[in-house]
Amino acid sequence: MNTRETINTFIDFYREHGHELSPSRSLLPPEGDDSVLFTTSGMHHLTPYLLGRPHPLGRRLSGVQRCLRTTDLEEVGDPTHLTVFEMLGSWSLGDYGSGRSLRWGHRLLLDGFGLPPESLHVTVFGGDEQTGPDVESLQTWQELGVPVEVLGPDNWWSNGPTGPCGPDSEIFVWTGDGEPEGTPSTDTRWVEIWNHVMMRYERLEDGSLVPLPQPSIDTGMGLERLLTVLQRKDSVYECDVFEPWQRTVPTLWPLDTRDHRVVVDHLRSGIVVIGDGVRPSNTGRGYVLRRLLRRVLTLLWSRDLPLLEELPLDLYGHTLDHFGQSPVVTGLTPVEIQRVVLEEQRRFLQMLDRGRRLLSRRPRGEVLDEGTLRFLHETHGLPREIVEVLSA
Ligand code: ALA
Repeated sequence: MNTRETINTFIDFYREHGHELSPSRSLLPPEGDDSVLFTTSGMHHLTPYLLGRPHPLGRRLSGVQRCLRTTDLEEVGDPTHLTVFEMLGSWSLGDYGSGRSLRWGHRLLLDGFGLPPESLHVTVFGGDEQTGPDVESLQTWQELGVPVEVLGPDNWWSNGPTGPCGPDSEIFVWTGDGEPEGTPSTDTRWVEIWNHVMMRYERLEDGSLVPLPQPSIDTGMGLERLLTVLQRKDSVYECDVFEPWQRTVPTLWPLDTRDHRVVVDHLRSGIVVIGDGVRPSNTGRGYVLRRLLRRVLTLLWSRDLPLLEELPLDLYGHTLDHFGQSPVVTGLTPVEIQRVVLEEQRRFLQMLDRGRRLLSRRPRGEVLDEGTLRFLHETHGLPREIVEVLSA
């Protein structure tokens, strides 16, 4: 199943069960919401409705939402983590409860996506000092005959320190060779693909939990992880959404697998973030974008490889198309996005010149102490890894 078929299977299933398609939004949170820099989950734009406001499209919704997570940045390059990814979501806004959500989810995975029943394992919330165990979810899975692991705080979901939250039930797929072994918490070959959150509470500023007037359900399934499973690939980078990148990047830059994945992830994420209107800067969203682009630039430069003028416009165009960021929608053509990337590269090269000049005044072979490294970073914007290469 390719990406389009996978998305359609999901949306069609939920449409057949009365869910309206909620439009995809930008990576920027809704106006007035400064709780996070970027949309990190499919539910983000639905927060007011999860808290009780009636939604114009009704009480059952589905959607596909691009998300950006910097918490996983160090894990990018492993088989399952991406900076920008897409989340397939379904929502019950004060309508059905966890039993129905889990049953439908199970049916879709088995009948819609053809996953073998024995390839699934789930986890549920076992309770803590503030709330009891999620009995309904536990019973539902037991009735469906799916192995369940009962866990603690890992199965409590919230999008931030305050706001709607609740116990969740996570669905894992076995990705190892041979028979499944262990449980999601003991064997990393169980990969989480779908999370069903029972939004039962709102957490207030003082940390207390108040029951929501109408409990809701918020589910999110990582599209690229699902594709990896359906397309029997070893990593998210090998599924079809990355096909043009995988075909092109190795011919531009000879890198090992992990660096290659980091380059693909960060450049693709950078293009999407620019498409959503962000520009590199030293603060906030712009800083996240700068870090993504500079990490790639540093990686290429320190290996003496050609830089970003090599990246073909086709890859910009493919990425913008994939995320629904055509010039008609954003007013930005691939050439204009490329201009932003190459301007950032120009600033990076200027920083290198500055670094070379500063370091040329110091004795050759000098070992730089912590204080000097910090000074070069804080005063001259020279990161440690650049200084180390320049002074080697
Ligand atoms: N909002 C939940 C998540 O992002 C579904 O995992």
